[in-house]
Amino acid sequence: MTKKVRILVIDDDAVAGEFLQEALSRAGYEVDVYTSAREALQGELAGYHLLLSDIRMPDMDGLQFLSQVHERWPQLPVILMTAFGSLETTMEALRLGAWDYISKPFSPEAIRAMVRKVLEVRELQQHWIQGQPEDRQEAHFIGSSAVMVDFYKQIARVADASASVLINGESGTGKELTARSLHRLSARRAKPFLAVNCGAIPETLLESELFGYEKGAFTGADRLHVGLLEAAGGGTVFLDEITEMSPALQGKLLRFMQNGEVRRLGGHEAKQVEVRVVAAANRDIDAEATAGRFRADLLYRFVIRLQVPPLREHREDLPQLVESFLKKWGYPTVRISDEAMELFMAYEWPGNVRELENVLRQTLLLSPFALILPENLPPKLRSVRPQETSLLTSLEAAERAQILQTLEGSAWNQSQAAQRLGIDRKTLRTRIQRYGLK
Ligand SMILES: Nc1ncnc2c1ncn2[C@@H]1O[C@H](COP(=O)(O)OP(=O)(O)OP(=O)(O)O)[C@@H](O)[C@H]1O
Ligand SMILES: [Mg+2]
Repeated sequence: MTKKVRILVIDDDAVAGEFLQEALSRAGYEVDVYTSAREALQGELAGYHLLLSDIRMPDMDGLQFLSQVHERWPQLPVILMTAFGSLETTMEALRLGAWDYISKPFSPEAIRAMVRKVLEVRELQQHWIQGQPEDRQEAHFIGSSAVMVDFYKQIARVADASASVLINGESGTGKELTARSLHRLSARRAKPFLAVNCGAIPETLLESELFGYEKGAFTGADRLHVGLLEAAGGGTVFLDEITEMSPALQGKLLRFMQNGEVRRLGGHEAKQVEVRVVAAANRDIDAEATAGRFRADLLYRFVIRLQVPPLREHREDLPQLVESFLKKWGYPTVRISDEAMELFMAYEWPGNVRELENVLRQTLLLSPFALILPENLPPKLRSVRPQETSLLTSLEAAERAQILQTLEGSAWNQSQAAQRLGIDRKTLRTRIQRYGLK
């Protein structure tokens, strides 16, 4: 007897939960429904084959939930059910590795089709993950477009300087890769490269990570801890997402950058440390400084600025990028059809090279055949239309279509349409303007 496929549904709306239970049990799946994300996390999810979760939940942030699930059950594919107006969150969720999303409301057929697809692919994925040893090799830039070659030159030109560098760029463009390249191309290459993500850990922890602490500096400091700045002596410290650093810590960092002195928390002596500071930001850091959220005097300490070009500005690198990823992951014989490549070229790539990697991985899992065809690509690529692509990402296009349809369905009565979409009128008005709907 074959084992039943088990699906876990998380939705705080009981009616939606029932609908899914019904729709999926009819297809022969065993379905459990939770109304709380926290409750679900307390259980053991290893026995499930698929998780279907609402992106908005009252008791927990959907993205936080997603990353916890990923961390504890990395093999469990997640489909998000997104509500209208959650565009940014959805993009971030896909970037974090959610498998796919489905916009509410949807039909029983639509969800069954999506579930079937994910489960088929999951079989392949497991095979694939086990068969593929982790590539330990260091990553390198790929692409020989004029834009990128110019960028490599900039990196090479400043790599050996000791001045601090600020790397700006959209998410997934290769900021971390840039920081590592700077280190690798410098005379510091034999010394440590230590990275910390300022947005990922709480302020007090970040401070002790950077500066270290003496034994007994605070409750729980039961032994000496050498901070990153000190540990990276002679090398490079990479401060990722530096705009997320608190003002107080920005002040401490500024002092370090002025005098090169590190004083551990609870310590009395300051130690002179030589280290190169490289920082990255995907927000507009100048705007942050103007708005008073980032210290201007700290910003001026970053003498060298590098701007990583977004993928849409060097689309001619796509064939080369695709080919080298395929090769690197052990698919040297897989080819991409001209039609599929045309869609790659037309797409905006809001998530840049990282998104390209995700799309390729997903495509390979869906169709591990010798030739990738347009129908093997994720919907967001298949739905790009040339006139739209310059302005809208595919998610935005979907949102626009949904607003238009609802407005038409309510005879352009904005309050009624807003109510149906579950957003307030002000939001609706801004979207109408943004998408130029009439
Ligand atoms: N030009 C490129 N050639 C090859 N790989 C690249 C290139 N640009 C980025 N990558 C790869 O894309 C992924 C994302 O790059 P990286 O982490 O450096 O980006 P990031 O700008 O720091 O992203 P985020 O803002 O999401 O932190 C990595 O796997 C990296 O190796
Ligand atoms: Mg990064």
